[in-house]
Amino acid sequence: MNQETAVGVIGAGTMGSGIAQVAATDGHRVSVFDSNADARSGAQARIHKILGRLAEKGRLDRESAKAIGERIVFVPDLQGFGDCGFVIEAVVERLDVKTAVFAEVESVVADDCVLATNTSSLSIAAISAACSKPERVIGAHFFNPAPLMPLVEIVPGLTTSEAVVHATRALIDDWGKTTVVAKDTAGFIVNRVARPFYGEALRILEEGIADVATIDWAMKEFGGFRMGPFELMDFIGNDVNYKVTETVFAAFFYDPRYKPSFAQKRLVEAGWLGRKSGRGFYDYREGAPHPQPKKDDAVGREILMRILVMLINEAADALFWQVASRDDIDLAMTKGVNYPRGLLRWADDTGLDEVLDRLGRLFAEYGEDRYRPSPLLRRMAAKGKTFYS
Ligand code: NAI
Repeated sequence: MNQETAVGVIGAGTMGSGIAQVAATDGHRVSVFDSNADARSGAQARIHKILGRLAEKGRLDRESAKAIGERIVFVPDLQGFGDCGFVIEAVVERLDVKTAVFAEVESVVADDCVLATNTSSLSIAAISAACSKPERVIGAHFFNPAPLMPLVEIVPGLTTSEAVVHATRALIDDWGKTTVVAKDTAGFIVNRVARPFYGEALRILEEGIADVATIDWAMKEFGGFRMGPFELMDFIGNDVNYKVTETVFAAFFYDPRYKPSFAQKRLVEAGWLGRKSGRGFYDYREGAPHPQPKKDDAVGREILMRILVMLINEAADALFWQVASRDDIDLAMTKGVNYPRGLLRWADDTGLDEVLDRLGRLFAEYGEDRYRPSPLLRRMAAKGKTFYS
């Protein structure tokens, strides 16, 4: 595949329109289909507005912006996808809808057309199984907003051919993205490894160890994270974030490490979804007071370390289970969710003995499986090894 390859995008919502813009910016002709005509016209207007704004700010010259817009064509059915060499699906997160879409697209495209899915939680194996040529089906998981977030997780399914993995990665690298390869397991890399950032923060809150503002302050002040966990959950939307946690929890056969929290569940039930609803962990309504953190450095550092060792444990376990390589795990967290450092690098800097000691103390205190250290951490510490040595 190269710049001449015609690209098809199915689903013109948040992700589909962003991906169409990325492909067209790289020079591809892009056909976009959405079963909802309003979604098609909405996406078209959104893309033109974004391109216009980029031109105004001088980030794109006017001619390029115009050319990018003209390369994206919105089509009323999948018949227009006949010449596509690469199709990416970003329709609603439902297996029945995705498999029906792929069955239809397979009847239109040539045999060598690659079919990618942007799913964040369904298995690539399940989606591929519904296709007549499962070897050409692959996951390509973009992050929101697709034009701005550099990371794309490339997820081969059980049946995906090596050639398709290679070609897809090369194509998306050409789009200026940072690609990592992840095993077809729940949450891939980012949505799995990031869980304790929310889960352990919620746990600290629920136990009354610290309040929302103090936990957020600790993570930013001592960890260098751009946003605290509660600010981020409110930004993502508590409904969306809670759903991901619940999905990952179920997909791991209810491993207690991923257990959702009542605090967040109640927020969702109350409709306190975060910024978008005006209220979440924080109150965003006009004139509402913003709670101040209790700035005690010793408490702040304890909070950071408790969440950090859980994140490191998750990253180490992802490596242990061969979800991805060491470098890809670290790259995914810095490029996909803006972590200040890769977690395995951070583990080395912290010292594996220190990480294990803290996990061991949590495990002893609570007696919960949630705090069990990854076998890989133990193995490496016992041998005096580090992740980067
Ligand atoms: P969205 O709700 O904004 O857009 C989905 C679009 O699919 C809608 O416009 C809808 O009309 C269309 N659609 C539904 N059924 C269809 C069909 N049979 N044929 C054609 N179009 C159809 O959803 P969003 O957020 O863009 O998500 C799309 C996919 O991307 C999902 O699989 C989601 O899990 C995944 N994803 C979402 C991210 C996010 O932050 N929103 C991040 C990464 C992946």
